[in-house]
Amino acid sequence: MVSGRMRIGYAALALLTLSATALVAAHVARAAAPGAPRESEFERAATDAMVLRGRQIVISHACGGCHGPTEDGVDQEGWLVGERSVEQQFLIGPCAVTPGAQPCFKTHPRNLTPDDETGLGRFTERQIFNALRYGVRPEDTPDVKITSTTPGQGNFPLHPHYLAPPMPWPSWRHMTDDELWAIAAYLKRGLKPVKNKVAESEGPPDFWASEYKEMPQIKLGSYPAPPFPTANERATEAKSTKKGK
Ligand code: HEC
Repeated sequence: MVSGRMRIGYAALALLTLSATALVAAHVARAAAPGAPRESEFERAATDAMVLRGRQIVISHACGGCHGPTEDGVDQEGWLVGERSVEQQFLIGPCAVTPGAQPCFKTHPRNLTPDDETGLGRFTERQIFNALRYGVRPEDTPDVKITSTTPGQGNFPLHPHYLAPPMPWPSWRHMTDDELWAIAAYLKRGLKPVKNKVAESEGPPDFWASEYKEMPQIKLGSYPAPPFPTANERATEAKSTKKGK
């Protein structure tokens, strides 16, 4: 359960760019794929590695904190099945702070399990990738490779239906391609489908497009991130440079 206070905290965190850094060791649990075409051992191993990588990213990025039931509750009932109680809803807008203030939008963390009717089963891994990289809702965005962040260009939808806050896609988009594909692989191939219909999120008529209209220049940071070091950062001495991200 997420308390009201935590919900507001989550929203604030998400809007201010959420970043979780905890590392959690992944325990091997391979999803059986009945009926799937026989793959070579090599392909199998590659798929397992990808699914496990996606699992580790999902756990360490607290996806379960919103999509249920808890940040790292991978073995608990309801893992990533989406909202099941009003406690998991978000109030977005002034009403998050002052009850009754307008505008007020209710948003609902969705079912991320591969159920065909109520979850991500309906979407391809590319549609999930696009949701995480560009913030576009899979239901309203075709299965195409997107090469621009400007609406109408490079397959970026002219009238994008962005994912509602506080889904932290402005942070997730900075993951590498491999990381996003791994998440998509875990959600589609590493989870059992669970039926759980989640209500549609409410939003402004333009589905938040005006919030992100100037993207990537103004309201969001830029994508890809500007080169290091920016004015806030300092170059490291060659000797003390650590490898890593
Ligand atoms: C702070 C809360 C929060 C966190 C943390 C969060 N999400 Fe979400 N997510 C949401 C909400 C709310 C929606 C619904 C958006 C909408 O309805 O437009 C959503 C929607 C999505 C969707 C679109 C699903 C669909 O059917 O349209 C995907 C995919 C997704 N999240 C994946 C993730 C992944 C992967 C992570 C972790 C890396 C994550 N989310 C972390 C709140 C969150």
